[in-house]
Amino acid sequence: MFVLTSSQMREIDRKASQEIGIPEVVLMENAGFCVFEEIKKDFRVLKDKNIAVFCGKGNNGGDGFVVARYLAQVCPNVKVFLFDENVTLTSKVFLDILKRLEVDVSILSEELLLSLQTQRFDIIVDAIFGIGLSKDIDGLYKKAIEYINSSDADVYSVDIPSGVCSDTAQVKGCAVRASKTVTFVYPKVGHILYPGSYYCGKVIVKDIGIPEKIIKDIKVKILTAEDLEVSKFYRYPDSHKGDYGKVGIVAGSKYYPGAAVLCSNAAIKSGCGLCYLITPQETLYFQSLRKPEIIVLPVESKEGVISFDGFVKFKEYFAKLDVLGFGCGLTKNEEVEKILIHILENFQIPIVIDADGLNVLASSQKAKNLLAIYKSQKVLTPHYMEAARLLGVDVKDVAKNPIDAAKKIAREFKSICVLKGSRTIITDGDEVFINVLGNPGMAKGGSGDVLTGIILSMIAQGYSAFEAAKISVYLHSLSADILLEKKTMQTILPSDVIEGLDSAIRRLIE
Ligand code: APR
Repeated sequence: MFVLTSSQMREIDRKASQEIGIPEVVLMENAGFCVFEEIKKDFRVLKDKNIAVFCGKGNNGGDGFVVARYLAQVCPNVKVFLFDENVTLTSKVFLDILKRLEVDVSILSEELLLSLQTQRFDIIVDAIFGIGLSKDIDGLYKKAIEYINSSDADVYSVDIPSGVCSDTAQVKGCAVRASKTVTFVYPKVGHILYPGSYYCGKVIVKDIGIPEKIIKDIKVKILTAEDLEVSKFYRYPDSHKGDYGKVGIVAGSKYYPGAAVLCSNAAIKSGCGLCYLITPQETLYFQSLRKPEIIVLPVESKEGVISFDGFVKFKEYFAKLDVLGFGCGLTKNEEVEKILIHILENFQIPIVIDADGLNVLASSQKAKNLLAIYKSQKVLTPHYMEAARLLGVDVKDVAKNPIDAAKKIAREFKSICVLKGSRTIITDGDEVFINVLGNPGMAKGGSGDVLTGIILSMIAQGYSAFEAAKISVYLHSLSADILLEKKTMQTILPSDVIEGLDSAIRRLIE
């Protein structure tokens, strides 16, 4: 399913009215009616309800006037609160209709808002701001939103909760906490990413009669099973381990031995033919949890961290690999940086860089330059903090617009970027997929190592880096969601997510 920005939505509206000739009033009528229908579906009987409809001066307010008109036909207690009589031309059509129908319309003031404290509404319709919200909310708007949030009414937001930025999901000053949000055509970024997603309640997407053919060049999508090509999961009866690829993983240190185990276990559990783990010998004491199928190449270390001299001794193995993972639990020091630079200068196999690989990259301009010109496929898997370090910005800037941050990383390094978070973003710098599966039970150290292992395994099995990233993010989250059927968010561990891949893969391919 596509995800729109406000400018794309405006362009769709413009094309529908100017190029196709569907009048703006028709779209507004349809939008308002869709919201009314949703309320009617939820309540069935509305005549005994007290209903307030808060309308802004833009077209979102116009949608609100339409909702109010339909509500007033089935309920005598509908009050419309208007912030400004100076509404858009299209909205005015519907405001005038309300007035002719003698629906109770008042201009909102501080006094009026205060007097509402003693009234109880069962339903509040929030049509204050939609995609046109342009600055932080203050003054009477803020007080009205605080009033709406303090009431115990069921709150329906038209298009997007007022205060949520439709392009970034950030809250601009304050925002309505909706029980349900009815949006049109496709969801907007603000409905999908956090914190906006919190404020939306249940999101309902309605068709308001815009022809599908004018919706073009939308590059942001919600990641669904339909976006995934699963043909490579088929294993031919006469196949052998060489057909499913060889993964190499450079991971672990005496400080983080578990990262190497999680990453390699996840790789071998996701179907690759062989998995080599290149890890400092000091991690071996920890390897009892490692799957016996993993081939370990213990490397000499310096104080428990992989050493360059130790690493290059295994170079004959690297020629055999189909993909290399670098970074999980390595820690960050000059030796690690030297190894990454050596790989980028001498290797030509697909590479997945995570964790300390990304940290080394962030602090080494040489490694950054080499990565940008590295000839094979690349996947970078930063979380927000790692992304901020890579981009040389504050983590708040990444959080403010994670889609942009992910695209920037992908473009700068000519790589796939998997920006990990509660809504993981996968992009090649042009197309963007947002993952909406998964749960907070995954918010634990080791989750990222597991994801890296799955991506490596998918690349080894023949998927392109972009496809591998999409499938892996999906399976990783699906596994955690399936686990929730038996476990709790507290008890799910990244190692459980690896075991859960059985059910996740089955569910995806069957
Ligand atoms: N404080 C005060 N006024 C603001 C603020 C703010 N923080 N932000 C925007 N405005 C004003 C704008 O100046 C403009 O007058 O609010 C109006 C924009 O409101 P919207 O209704 O969100 O935008 P508009 O483009 O008119 O309509 C888009 O119409 O198609 C429907 O519901 C759909 O969301 C969509 C909406």
